[in-house]
Amino acid sequence: MDYLKAQRVQSLHGTINISGAKNASLPLIAMTILAKNKVSITNLPVVTDIKTLLKLLTNLGGEVMFEEDKVVVDTISLHETKATYDIVKTMRASILVLGPILSRFGHCEVSLPGGCAIGQRPIDLHLKALEQMGAIIDIKSGYIQATAPDGLKGANIIFDKVTVTGTANIVMAAALAHGVTTITNAAREPEVVQLCEVLEKSGIEIEGIGTAILRIKGSAGKLIDIASFRVIPDRIEAGTYLCAGAITRSEITLSNVEPRHLGAVISKLEEMGSSFTIGEDSITIHPGEEILPTKIITQEYPAFPTDMQAQFLALATQANGVSIIEERLFENRFMHVSELQRMGAEITLNGHTATVTGKSKLSGADVMATDLRASSALVLAALVADGETNIHRIYHLDRGYDALEKKLRCVGANIKRLKE
Ligand code: UD1
Repeated sequence: MDYLKAQRVQSLHGTINISGAKNASLPLIAMTILAKNKVSITNLPVVTDIKTLLKLLTNLGGEVMFEEDKVVVDTISLHETKATYDIVKTMRASILVLGPILSRFGHCEVSLPGGCAIGQRPIDLHLKALEQMGAIIDIKSGYIQATAPDGLKGANIIFDKVTVTGTANIVMAAALAHGVTTITNAAREPEVVQLCEVLEKSGIEIEGIGTAILRIKGSAGKLIDIASFRVIPDRIEAGTYLCAGAITRSEITLSNVEPRHLGAVISKLEEMGSSFTIGEDSITIHPGEEILPTKIITQEYPAFPTDMQAQFLALATQANGVSIIEERLFENRFMHVSELQRMGAEITLNGHTATVTGKSKLSGADVMATDLRASSALVLAALVADGETNIHRIYHLDRGYDALEKKLRCVGANIKRLKE
């Protein structure tokens, strides 16, 4: 198993190129199941979650070709309709194939994803919406068994909670359904927006893109001609490197980034003392005299993302004063706290709220990554901790960060990947 060894760094400098967004790529890859053509995708990040989903498609009978800077996905000969436990257990987002397979074939089995490190993460809202569209759903032997012999029908869906993969799943199901589907309380995350935009470019009529009410006119079972596309930049990867600049008090530039997707993150970093030069697809962070404490509440887009909570918590350990960080989306997303405490951070947890008292003198330690974003919080802490930090179990990190240690080394960090 790999681990990362990192030393304290005086400062970082230079430019980091941002990869394509993992969370946009996943639904977009699942969407290729709706295609009657080979689909060409550029800017896919090289991360394990993407490899896992591409493997799932090949297990189902699809073909994946890597050609220079693009990946071509051919699902024309896809014929299997069962996403088995061995794949789904490694990646919950495999649930994204449920909507498209069911709408294309009229039946689908997907292993139940089960619990996960950051909370229960149920999929009841996905299933309820599919039932409203006419699916018959049974849970048997750990599998969701869904059928819709006459195809899915348009329905009026009102999500009780905003769900990102739930919205994506239903948008894809609705694209091939008979009639019009309305989704109220839809997720407005840029990743959902891109899915809708690619479908719209491919001939599916969608109204309300980027709003909480989507109206999708289905193709009545006809597969669609999906236009080639480039995946949007990863706003969470970008936010993580902005935090690296802020925590080490360094001026660094991000290229191939979409500043409009980072509004809440940039605004919090400004509150904490940094300033920015923002270009069309670049951001430079200029650190302030000191890091100021903050108050954060995680919420759905466009508010502050839960996927940046752990990184800001690490940053808050270096702020002069008391920061309050409230996690509203996932019930157990504070596992990085105990690892940061082992490095010397002063954090108290009360239910869904962390109180971070800075500035703490952090010292390097052996720490364990517990989930994807928690892993990057430990890397950020390691950049300012005295001595050496070994971050174990970085397979979590590899799920979603493309070449993290290489990108950090390019801007001057002393970090390397070693084998246990
Ligand atoms: C996606 C992102 C993840 C991010 C999260 C919240 C992907 C692959 N993952 O996860 O990085 O942290 O959005 O922005 O895009 N819920 C239910 N029932 C459901 C579905 C969700 O109760 O059927 C709850 C969840 O437990 C959670 C909240 O709704 O409390 C939001 O979850 P959701 O948006 O669905 O998260 P994911 O799509 O799994």
